[in-house]
Amino acid sequence: MAATSPFTLKWGIMATGWIAEMFTKDLLTNPAARDVHDVGHEVVAAASSSAKQRAADFLSMVKAPTSAKAYGSYHELVADPDIDIIYVATPHSHHFQNAMLALDAGKNVLCEKSLTVTAAQTRKLIETARVKKVFFMEAVWTRYFPLSIKVRELVQSGAIGNVYRTIADLSFNRDTADGKVDFDDSHRMVNIDLAGGALLDLGIYSLTWVFQTLYHVQPEKDKESPKVVAAMNKYHTGADETTSIIVQFPEHKSMGIALTSLRVSTDVDGHNTGGPAIRIQGSGGEIHVMGPAYRPLQFKVIKKDGGGKVEVVDCPIPKDEERDWGHGMFWEADECARCLRDGKVESETLPWSESMVIMETMDEALRQGGITYPELIMSDVFDAQSPLNTGKR
Ligand SMILES: NC(=O)c1ccc[n+]([C@@H]2O[C@H](COP(=O)([O-])OP(=O)(O)OC[C@H]3O[C@@H](n4cnc5c(N)ncnc54)[C@H](OP(=O)(O)O)[C@@H]3O)[C@@H](O)[C@H]2O)c1
Repeated sequence: MAATSPFTLKWGIMATGWIAEMFTKDLLTNPAARDVHDVGHEVVAAASSSAKQRAADFLSMVKAPTSAKAYGSYHELVADPDIDIIYVATPHSHHFQNAMLALDAGKNVLCEKSLTVTAAQTRKLIETARVKKVFFMEAVWTRYFPLSIKVRELVQSGAIGNVYRTIADLSFNRDTADGKVDFDDSHRMVNIDLAGGALLDLGIYSLTWVFQTLYHVQPEKDKESPKVVAAMNKYHTGADETTSIIVQFPEHKSMGIALTSLRVSTDVDGHNTGGPAIRIQGSGGEIHVMGPAYRPLQFKVIKKDGGGKVEVVDCPIPKDEERDWGHGMFWEADECARCLRDGKVESETLPWSESMVIMETMDEALRQGGITYPELIMSDVFDAQSPLNTGKR
């Protein structure tokens, strides 16, 4: 019997920044290098909001095939009939308007984290995807790592008993001697106009570990929205610089602690000697995930009655030797391809309802922390001609 050819997903890349480069290079790797044979990817086009030449330079930098088209506007990208799915890789301030632009044009969308600035914006995107009957997913790549899948399976199998608590941290020490952090005030990490702050950029990964080990694993009929208690220290730009969130599931007697900071580091010396980034604590033992929380490569299983034995599991990211590349974002791209091949509009690994609950948690944390963003980026009214869509800065 002849082998069936893999389903190929045709991508349009919206924006030409750092993560767009990482993701597009991963799309261009050979799936066989990660032992994937049922799906593949094609980069059809990339668009820059500033200039067509910037998109052309991006495509040549990532060594895209010469057939890939360069566009000088996001509007042109979403109108391209050859594209199946748009990857939104703009700052999170722009996600709502940019993802709406693509959904409104009938395109499937994979949108970077944090999905939006507010939960109301996420709700609007989900409603639009539902009405348009198109696929929509938040690009939390870590969820699709074989490591995350194994950890979720261990939690669900009861390998460490009932899981009652997860402590997760993603922090980077960017402290400078003058009391600031080493990002220019205009940088998207601290710029309030670009929805800057530790929570929306880094804390989302701490929350991802809390939610995938305490909420995702709850049976569907017993899904419990959390109670949220948060504290935030503010940077002088108005963005949060250190944030701690307690996420409580009283019915399940479980609790998550999500930490993030721009002042101290999870990995104190750059050699992972500071201990695990994530501790998943059960009645019968613990799972320790070694950081960084967004791209973990190892976890440890420690049983309460294990007599001091530690099981160490390494999960390296496979590299395409020909391209000398492999970042780990291809697994989420493979998930998009499989969902679209199978006619699904959302992924079971990160369903719309779960993105919604996480955004509500961040909304509540920002409210308690007293952080507000400008109206332009908090609005949930779609405007195709918004400066966030046209690039007029
Ligand atoms: N999954 C991950 O591991 C990961 C890692 C880093 C970042 N991210 C997420 O990806 C998004 C982008 O982050 P990044 O590090 O790639 O940022 P970046 O390097 O600053 O790139 C952002 C791109 O967005 C476009 N853009 C449109 N309007 C802009 C504006 N007013 N200011 C700045 N850029 C604008 C620009 O491309 P054009 O001019 O070509 O349109 C720019 O190159 C963020 O939401 C971030 O949270 C995810």
